[in-house]
Parts: sequence; structure tokens; C-alpha cells
Amino acid sequence: MRIVEMFSLSGKKAFVTGAAQGIGQMAALTLAEAGADVAVVDRNQERLKDTVRAIEAVGRRALGINCDVTDPREVDRMIEQILDEFGTVDIAFNNAGICHNEAAEKITFEDWKRVIDINLTGVFLTAQAAGRVMLKNRKGSVINMASMSGHIVNAPQPQSSYNASKAGVLQLTKSLAVEWAPFGVRVNSLSPGYIGTEMTRAAVQWIPTWEASTPMKRMGMPTELMPALVYLACDASSYTTGSDVVVDGGFTCL
Ligand code: NAI
Repeated sequence: MRIVEMFSLSGKKAFVTGAAQGIGQMAALTLAEAGADVAVVDRNQERLKDTVRAIEAVGRRALGINCDVTDPREVDRMIEQILDEFGTVDIAFNNAGICHNEAAEKITFEDWKRVIDINLTGVFLTAQAAGRVMLKNRKGSVINMASMSGHIVNAPQPQSSYNASKAGVLQLTKSLAVEWAPFGVRVNSLSPGYIGTEMTRAAVQWIPTWEASTPMKRMGMPTELMPALVYLACDASSYTTGSDVVVDGGFTCL
């Protein structure tokens, strides 16, 4: 197969969670530009419409799905809707996530649980739903959104729940990769450094510190994660499973 064909997603069916804004929205559009039809999943229905329109504008099919990834029944319904519309799933980008900055001694049980439920359990539930289809097909690529926060401890912001959830995603990814490798299903993760989205803009007071502590002296843009995402999604990564791709401007080197 020629290299250009390896990177093509033509004819593939994908879903992206957390696709109403930020990295997920850019990811959905990028997978569509690479040739995939894309189901976009979020609980923010209003903003999801923009993602749907952007995918249709590049000539691919889009399906907007209202789903809270922490609810197993909603995730079941999500996968049913995708199968009804697209017939199958080849690529799953389990990206929905939140951050909560609060000192470990102060965070409430509810806030702790919400972060773990969305960032770790939500990733598991949507990976499981995709995996059930892919295992039957004997092929598929699951990409889980981790973070450099699964590798290092961010400072100065206190975010033990977030860091723990992302470390969980890294080990979940490797576990699924080993379980599903014999059946042709690959599972990898993506670990960005600080990226300019609404998530990081909500903590604008820390941006100068983050930039100063990044070897490249700047934050990344969602577009700069996309080549790594397409690599993990497509046939070019046919021998890559259980890997984590770090895209962080050198942050984790220090
Ligand atoms: P964002 O806040 O801009 O977008 C997150 C999206 O997820 C939103 O559309 C939101 O509605 C959706 N979402 C949240 N909870 C959900 C739920 N229960 N069910 C369905 N959808 C839900 O965030 P951003 O920055 O685009 O982050 C996307 C992912 O990338 C997250 O997992 C985040 O932890 C991760 N990440 C972000 C980094 C950054 O610097 N922005 C760095 C490393 C990882």
C-alpha cells in the first residue's frame, strides 16, 4: 500500500466524544477531511450543530448524538444510533473530559467522582461500546484521550483528580490493547501538553507559568495534535497498539 493510501480514512466510520468544541471538534473535522464519516457525541447539543455543519461542509456524513458518556444506557443508545446510521464503527476517539482544579484536602466527593466518571469511566464505556463492534469485525482503532498529566504532576494548579484520571486512561489503554490485540483491534492513547481550548482558557492566570515551563515556550493548538490522531486512526499505525503518543512541546522531558 502506498503511503498516501495508508493515511487515508476514506470509507471509514468514526465517532468522537466531546466533539462540540475544542480538541474534539477539531478531531471530528480532521477525521472527516481525511475521508471518514463521523458521528459526533456530546451533551452540548447547541454547539454540536456547528461540528455537524463543518463535517458536512467537507462532503462527509455527520451524525450528532446527545450523550453523557458517564451513563451506560446513553452510551448503548449512542452506539445503536451509529450502527443504524453508519452500519459499523472503525475508529473511536474517546476524548470527552473535564478538569477540576482544587486542593486534594478540599475537593468534595462529588467533584472527585465527576472527574473520574467522565475522564476515566466515560472513556472506558465508550471504548467498550466501540470494542464490542470492532471485535466482531476483527478490526478497528480505539484512541483514548489521556494527557501529559497522566505522566507528570502539573503545577501550580492543584488537580489530583484530573491527574489520577489521566494516569488511569494510560493503563486502561494498555490493558485493552493487550486484551484486544489478538482480535485485530488496536488501542492507543494521545497525551497532549497544554493546548489552547476553553479548558485551559478557564485558567488564564496560569498560562504564563505553563508557557515558561514548556521547552518550546508556548502552548500548542488543537491542530497540532491532529497528525498524531490521524496516524493512530489509520492503517499506517497497523503495528502500533498500547502506545501513548505525547505531543507536548517538550514539557515531559524536564
Ligand atoms: P473542552 O472543555 O474544550 O471540551 C470538552 C468537551 O467534552 C465539551 O464539548 C464538553 O461538553 C464535552 N463533555 C464533557 N463532559 C461530557 C460528558 N459527560 N459527556 C459528553 N461530553 C462531555 O476541552 P478540551 O481542551 O478540548 O479537552 C478535550 C480532551 O483533551 C479532554 O479529555 C482533556 O482532558 C484532554 N486534554 C486537554 C488538554 C488541554 O490543554 N486543553 C491537554 C491534555 C488533554
